[in-house]
Amino acid sequence: MRDTDQSISRYATGDARERLFAALRASGLVPEVLQPDALAESDQFHSGGTAATGDVARAVGIGLGTRVLDVGSGIGGPARFFAQLGAVVTGVDVTEEYVRLARELNAACAMAGSITMLLAPAQDTKLPAGSFDAAAMLHVGMNLADKQAVFTEVHRLLRPGGVFGVYDLMGTNTLGYPLPWADAASASYVESDESYVNHLRAAGFIVTENTDRSAAVLKQMAEEAAAERLSPTPLGGLNLLGSDPEARVANELAAFKSGALAPRLLIAVRPV
Ligand SMILES: C[S@@+](CC[C@H](N)C(=O)[O-])C[C@H]1O[C@@H](n2cnc3c(N)ncnc32)[C@H](O)[C@@H]1O
Repeated sequence: MRDTDQSISRYATGDARERLFAALRASGLVPEVLQPDALAESDQFHSGGTAATGDVARAVGIGLGTRVLDVGSGIGGPARFFAQLGAVVTGVDVTEEYVRLARELNAACAMAGSITMLLAPAQDTKLPAGSFDAAAMLHVGMNLADKQAVFTEVHRLLRPGGVFGVYDLMGTNTLGYPLPWADAASASYVESDESYVNHLRAAGFIVTENTDRSAAVLKQMAEEAAAERLSPTPLGGLNLLGSDPEARVANELAAFKSGALAPRLLIAVRPV
């Protein structure tokens, strides 16, 4: 699968664990025994950080006992956030390095009992139909050439009435590269929100919400940058997204500011 191959090559750097653990130790933490909140600055691989994860959780109704599918779970930041709310979470991701690190961090946070991390493409998870109450996908679509295939699989996995939150960067693919998810336009699959809505509908969903979150994200990015300038920390300065992190973040920020790219939250329901 072209999109999966691209994702693996972009995200696997081989040193994510080593760099994260070094930053944790430099912050006086013991990587083997952690409070999930201690990771918040470095385990949410999407714009808007934990505030955005919280908004997704609220919008899809995550609470005690909710069975949640996390599509493209990364190193597990959103999954641990959902589990802290009492959910039972299954994450799927194609980057083996991330899946291994996510499992290790779940164990360090004593959350391995409520989170399962699977190495699997979101298009074909092999999980049982109707086994989730809610699903979340945070900043994954930019790597998916065939979004409808993923949305069709999520629709199969949700129970009737189940809710799917898609929090992605939407807009045009004609952008300044490199970006956090791609070195060049040929490996990037940014699409407009109208196009997402069409893919979701074609997969069988009813789309109930479509919100532009640019203002909140720009505010949060400015605050974070100011705090880091004022008092730099090992975790605040950490960027696990590989080579040229400054250029990637600068290009992303420019695209947000020009309106070429917007973090948007779409909520979709599998009809009863
Ligand atoms: C920007 S990261 C976001 C990680 C996580 N959702 C978060 O917000 O912290 C994108 C993730 O999507 C995963 N991914 C990309 N294509 C995928 C696919 N086809 N199936 C499953 N995971 C995929 C990547 O491996 C990567 O971990």
